[in-house]
Amino acid sequence: MLTDTFALKGTICYSISPQELSITPNSYLICSQGKCAGIFPVLPEKYRGIPCTDYKDDLIIPGLTDLHVHAPQYTFRASGMDLELLDWLNTYAFPQEARYENLEFARSAYSIFAEDMKKSPNTRACIFGTLHVPATELLMELMDKTGLKTMIGKVNMDRNGSPILQETSAEASAQATVTWIEDTLNRFENTMPILTPRFTPACTDQLMAKLSQIQKKYHLPMQSHLSENFGEIEWVKELCPSTHFYGEAYHQFQLFGGDCPTIMAHCVHSSEEELALMKKQGVYVAHCPQSNTNLSSGIAPARHYLEAGLHVGLGSDIAGGTSLSILRAMADAIQVSKLYWRLVDSSAKPLTLEEAFYLGTEGGGSFFGKVGSFREGYEFDAVILNSSTIPTPLSLSPKDRLERLVYLSDDRNITGKYVSGRKIL
Ligand code: GUN
Ligand code: FE
Repeated sequence: MLTDTFALKGTICYSISPQELSITPNSYLICSQGKCAGIFPVLPEKYRGIPCTDYKDDLIIPGLTDLHVHAPQYTFRASGMDLELLDWLNTYAFPQEARYENLEFARSAYSIFAEDMKKSPNTRACIFGTLHVPATELLMELMDKTGLKTMIGKVNMDRNGSPILQETSAEASAQATVTWIEDTLNRFENTMPILTPRFTPACTDQLMAKLSQIQKKYHLPMQSHLSENFGEIEWVKELCPSTHFYGEAYHQFQLFGGDCPTIMAHCVHSSEEELALMKKQGVYVAHCPQSNTNLSSGIAPARHYLEAGLHVGLGSDIAGGTSLSILRAMADAIQVSKLYWRLVDSSAKPLTLEEAFYLGTEGGGSFFGKVGSFREGYEFDAVILNSSTIPTPLSLSPKDRLERLVYLSDDRNITGKYVSGRKIL
């Protein structure tokens, strides 16, 4: 009898390319030692007798990856949505993030975030904390316990915050970062640190240079923001007069992909030059359509990025965005791409359901390795979706059922969830 091997039965659905879905009703998905080991219409002889859970008509899809989310902002999501980025940061985000100095507050807020993330259809996430080391370590502990796989960053910011949310010097910020990395690098089963300079306006050149050295020493991945909003982009031009485009403000410190995997959130207004450098450096775009709409930042041409061969995934960008669900982010990505096509560029065809599904699964998941697909050898991250809250007398195809779940589902539609073969819901 095979140990550490089991099967899930149901309608199995995953991307075989950005343009094509594989959908197999009534089939067995095998997990062996935490990895996908094939999809079969009939259980093969060698798997006879393994434990099998029959999810009947439910859809089984790969776990989703939220490539960009701010955990401390979950408390005030859907507040201040009439503001644009820089005013919203100063009025809402920065004063609220300052509260994570207080560990008791952090525990109550982060416990709610962790619980809701666990109940969502996401299995992986790249998460911003705050500049505070104790609160960020607490967030890592809480997220580790959920069983979700996460990368979490202590935020660096040594300028243009406010007296209450700004580190006292580049040196102090770098020191705190090293302390935090040493504390957490090998401490958790499911959670690891990711370097997190907030964005160029919040980090001095001295700090960026120090973070670059720290990154080389510890080989950490990195996450930040790029070309999100017109006011922000103008500001970076003033702060970095020697650069030709925003991305160079990171690249001049070797903090722009290359050896260390890097995510840049938004890229709404990236120039062709910036995109070419991102492609060369393998930088990931975290496309955050709901946030870009709420903060009136604009529409990132995600389909263009995908076709140009960039790595693209989806982000909730809580609390620029309001919904944690990456299924919702898929629908938002499709909808904004239609407005872009109709109103901005009539040659930019909208994203299809297939493409949006790819972005939320393998597109972002690949930042974690072999993640976001049911191909053999991939991490066994699976979400089981039911249609209990959206009954219809119609007899729908599996693809139509998937599309309805993308547009209409919430946490009540999640029957179960597995991460690297471990059942967490
Ligand atoms: N740029 C710098 N910080 C932030 C943030 O917290 N949210 C968003 N959307 N953009 C940012
Ligand atoms: Fe963000």
